[in-house]
Amino acid sequence: MSFRIQPQAPARPNRCQLFGPGSRPAIFEKMAASAADVINLDLEDSVAPDDKPEARKNIIQAIGDVDWGGKYLSVRINGLDTPYWYRDVVDLLENASDRIDQIMIPKVGCAADIYAVDALVTAVEAANGRSKPISFEVIIESAAGIAHVEEIAAASPRLQAMSLGAADFAASMGMQTTGIGGTQEDYYMVREGVKHWSDPWHWAQAAIVAACRTHGVLPVDGPFGDFSDDDGFVAQAKRSATLGMVGKWAIHPKQVALANDVFTPSDDAVSEAREILAAMEQAKKDGAGATVYKGRLVDIASIKQAEVIVRQSEMIAG
Ligand code: COA
Ligand code: MG
Repeated sequence: MSFRIQPQAPARPNRCQLFGPGSRPAIFEKMAASAADVINLDLEDSVAPDDKPEARKNIIQAIGDVDWGGKYLSVRINGLDTPYWYRDVVDLLENASDRIDQIMIPKVGCAADIYAVDALVTAVEAANGRSKPISFEVIIESAAGIAHVEEIAAASPRLQAMSLGAADFAASMGMQTTGIGGTQEDYYMVREGVKHWSDPWHWAQAAIVAACRTHGVLPVDGPFGDFSDDDGFVAQAKRSATLGMVGKWAIHPKQVALANDVFTPSDDAVSEAREILAAMEQAKKDGAGATVYKGRLVDIASIKQAEVIVRQSEMIAG
């Protein structure tokens, strides 16, 4: 470990973030009744320009009126390249109840984007005597966002989570696809005449995880557009979990259970992690730093790996 200790990300479950357009208030109660850990009420790209004022009103009212239970409640504002975002922030923080937990900032390209929102949020909070500070989450969904991902992760103490937004990211990168996440038909290698599909999102995900883990931020996988493809969703989510991400968006309610299942460590995984911890406890008593568990090496690093799984499981259970 570097002299600088790696900070822990916020200890709250973030297995699934369920999105819904702010212009469709009829689904707010259904979102609240879902099993998602995080709710994202949207003012951005699922809301048509003419509907933005109405969507703000709907969301402000629902934040106070709907029983959101223990869910983390986030509102996605519009990007800093639009005329809408400042009004989103000001209206929300002047009028929404303290039940709102978080603002999601889309399309961030550099740390200064977050600095700008932080300055506005801080001023409106102070002017209105809001006692509960709003946290931030951001979406990395542009070439600039991924190029500056580390400075973005470090940009504000308010920042708790960072997602990869596959659709805007693909457009910004000039990727030749209209698919939102998942396997891309033309991203393959050929060996002995057989196609093998690779993962075009892998490097961006790994960059996001590294930036997030360096600065104590939750790394989250974004949307999977084809909500009729459960297998594709689960495969994408499992790859994300394996890389260190803690959760994934749902853009349709049927994806919530799939995400919760993938991002909750299985009973088998938790049992194995506990057995590894017990094996290492015994090794320590025997004066050894390494031992054999089920025919494979485990050593002091294995303790930290096992603790990741046990900690995640206990945090979700608690
Ligand atoms: N949250 C909660 N419930 C939802 C929902 C959501 N995001 N989307 C749909 N539902 C409800 C519907 O109201 C319907 O309920 P009912 O059985 O009581 O009638 C049920 O789930 C099935 O809905 P379905 O008919 O399959 O979908 P739809 O055509 O109504 O809506 C989408 C499909 C994709 C347009 C809608 O899910 C949606 O708007 N998703 C979020 C989009 C978004 O926020 N994008 C921004 C982030 S990428
Ligand atoms: Mg987007």
